[in-house]
Amino acid sequence: MPKATIKISNNSKTQVNPRIYGSFVEHMGRCVYGGIFEPASPFSDEDGFRTDVLDLAKEMGVTTVRYPGGNFVSGYLWEDGVGPKEERPTRLDLAWRSVETNQFGLNEFMKWIKLLDAEPIMAINLGTRGVLEAAQLIEYANFPEGTTFSEMRKQHGVENPHQIGVWCLGNELDGPWQIGHKSAEDYGKLAKETAKAIKLVDPDVKLVACGSSYEEMPTFGEWEETVLDHTFDEVENISMHAYYEKFDDDSLSFLASSARMDRFIKGVIERADKIATKKGSDKKINISFDEWNVWYQKRFEGVDKLEFAQAPRIIEDDYTVEDAVVVGSLLMTLIKNSDRVDMACQAQLANVIGPIRTETNKPAWRQTSFFPFALSSKFGRGEVIDLEIGTRTEDAALFENLPMVDSVATKDGDHLNVFLLNRELEDSTDVSIELAGFNIDEFVEGYLVGGDNLELQNTAEQPEAFGYDSISPSKTVANGFSVTLPKVSWSLLRFKLSN
Ligand code: AHR
Repeated sequence: MPKATIKISNNSKTQVNPRIYGSFVEHMGRCVYGGIFEPASPFSDEDGFRTDVLDLAKEMGVTTVRYPGGNFVSGYLWEDGVGPKEERPTRLDLAWRSVETNQFGLNEFMKWIKLLDAEPIMAINLGTRGVLEAAQLIEYANFPEGTTFSEMRKQHGVENPHQIGVWCLGNELDGPWQIGHKSAEDYGKLAKETAKAIKLVDPDVKLVACGSSYEEMPTFGEWEETVLDHTFDEVENISMHAYYEKFDDDSLSFLASSARMDRFIKGVIERADKIATKKGSDKKINISFDEWNVWYQKRFEGVDKLEFAQAPRIIEDDYTVEDAVVVGSLLMTLIKNSDRVDMACQAQLANVIGPIRTETNKPAWRQTSFFPFALSSKFGRGEVIDLEIGTRTEDAALFENLPMVDSVATKDGDHLNVFLLNRELEDSTDVSIELAGFNIDEFVEGYLVGGDNLELQNTAEQPEAFGYDSISPSKTVANGFSVTLPKVSWSLLRFKLSN
């Protein structure tokens, strides 16, 4: 049986930013309509919000939600989604070839997110709109009163400003698929001018410039440098997006997704710091990893094959236990990079590649990917502590020298939380963990996703086929423990520390 060692020392350079446990709600498929909002469902409240979905989002520990897109935002007129519902226009959404009724918009989203007790991240349209419309939207959302747009908000029944603190300057504008796709130079100039105007309306907001849509984009690197060269003084964050899937039954490459995500993050940090050095500044531009997930893009037939329809069923991936292991490992990478990942959003919350699924007349259910997210958000808090891993490596097709065991640990008060990933496809791994500078009082609990039944899924017919299993150390002493990690598994072991 393969063996691995981990040395955990009582040093920490950073705290986990709770904002990494974010989600994403886009006007796409059945994420909004039929997902979080469905007046016709018996599970909805008087505002049409699905209370079962809200309850599950709370259970998941979602801390922030990005809205309203996504590719959708690049054709969106925010004014369509505010004011009396009967006067709101029905429009074509060209991004997803859908019919948008605008029955859910900014004020409904803000009412919903308050019920969730989460923080909004709002994206603005810089695909087909510009500086003026962006400034007007911030005025509507955040300016107290006495101007055209702030008074319009009040007339719409929202007396106090929403005080939305984080704004994304467009979405994936490096992508040729994006409506209003731009060169880095054109986008950089537009983002800078928009950022200036937004901060004149509300100087307290945090702004996110668009980074690359994925690591393999031909413009990756150059895009970040050009965009940040323009926007360095005006923005706080740069975005990253990444979706992972299993190709050709290659599980090892699929399990390398978190290592690929880590490399991508380091690549963006390198570019951001290069521009800081060029400008002679010690400002750190941080990362908003505002779209990430497992997404089987090979199953999506493409936008051009869609017939225009309201809330069509698109990209409703059914996740397996193996997918959930990868989701857990991606969260481990986000925790590890807490010093520079300021926020992150799993895309998307409901139905559309979502951990939560719905049908009108059935209670919402948890997909397998729900569990590692909920456990990470609940327990992956506090300080990220230093550790060293000794493990064998293998060359995967998509990542050379892949460590077969990975780990990240957090110390939260008097609790130690150790997250572990076993990438071995055939074998369990015996891991022995040694603590330096602190001691274990007792083992508290252990959660396991993976091992056997990697193909298991939670479906409408069998919504509770998978929960999570438990895992315990084989041995616990004051300065460490040993555990056998099943093949292809993600686990979390929690200990109480001695005083
Ligand atoms: O989350 C689905 C889509 O993926 C988003 O609309 C877009 O930003 C990304 O390409």
